[in-house]
Amino acid sequence: MFKYHCLNPIADIGLNKFTGNYEKTENVNEADGVLVRSAAMHDMELPEKLLAVARAGAGVNNIPLDKCAEKGIVVFNTPGANANGVKELVIAGMLLASRDIVGGINWVAANKDDKNIAKTAEKEKKNFAGTEIQDKKLGLIGLGAIGIKVANVARHLGMEVYGYDPYLSVDAAWNLSRDVKHVLNVDEIYENCDFISIHVPLVETTRGMLNKDAIAKMKEGVVLLNFARDLLANEEDVIEGIKSGKVRKYVTDFPNTITAGQEGCIVVPHLGASTEESEDNCAKMAVKEMMDYLENGNIINS
Ligand code: MLT
Repeated sequence: MFKYHCLNPIADIGLNKFTGNYEKTENVNEADGVLVRSAAMHDMELPEKLLAVARAGAGVNNIPLDKCAEKGIVVFNTPGANANGVKELVIAGMLLASRDIVGGINWVAANKDDKNIAKTAEKEKKNFAGTEIQDKKLGLIGLGAIGIKVANVARHLGMEVYGYDPYLSVDAAWNLSRDVKHVLNVDEIYENCDFISIHVPLVETTRGMLNKDAIAKMKEGVVLLNFARDLLANEEDVIEGIKSGKVRKYVTDFPNTITAGQEGCIVVPHLGASTEESEDNCAKMAVKEMMDYLENGNIINS
């Protein structure tokens, strides 16, 4: 009988769908496997017994990979399982950056007692005018499960899509619309695109890649979107870019003291994967991978 411990309740969603030779423990020290969503495990003492950690999500930067490797603990993640949820929020982010939907909603709420609101709205709407995304150029840095999905939807919305990925897999290339311009140098994205969305993991070579040098190469009025990891952007440089007018909007899924409430920043509280469907997919995949390892010794990272 294997014992598992959940650091985040989401993991239970997956467990309820499985029957097997395991039981839940509230005591992490008894656990053979740990299921985790976003809880940071870096300061955690890894239990002696622990054999596997499964992350219900794509990024593994909340898991101490080196410590796990030293102790022979196998780490699983669930790439692609929440790609739809993130894709839809990226598209929403582009629309939020282009149309003053939030300003309009707030105006209506603030004027709810105006008996002539319909009439007043007709006068006020000039203050909330926006632009369209059709015919604009979208640059995607990273063409993994999420980048590919964003690319294909953006094409259907009439955008011209550029994609950069030095590690593009054959599978990913196959799934990519033939209409996406696959560039071999990221500068081509910086120089040409009206919207730039980053979809890469946070590693040493990507940390802070959206910085002042990159921004200097971009078009005036570029919109930057970051639904991958906060530290991919040097946000102080991004704020400078907003102040100078070079960056029109920064849309991010990672609130912090630099961006929250800042003019030009549209910040949501890490909602990319927060849909019923994505949470369910991630939890099921994480549990399946972990149980298959604990019960059968199989290491399959889906
Ligand atoms: C991911 O890495 O896939 C996301 O951070 C998942 C999540 O929101 O938990």
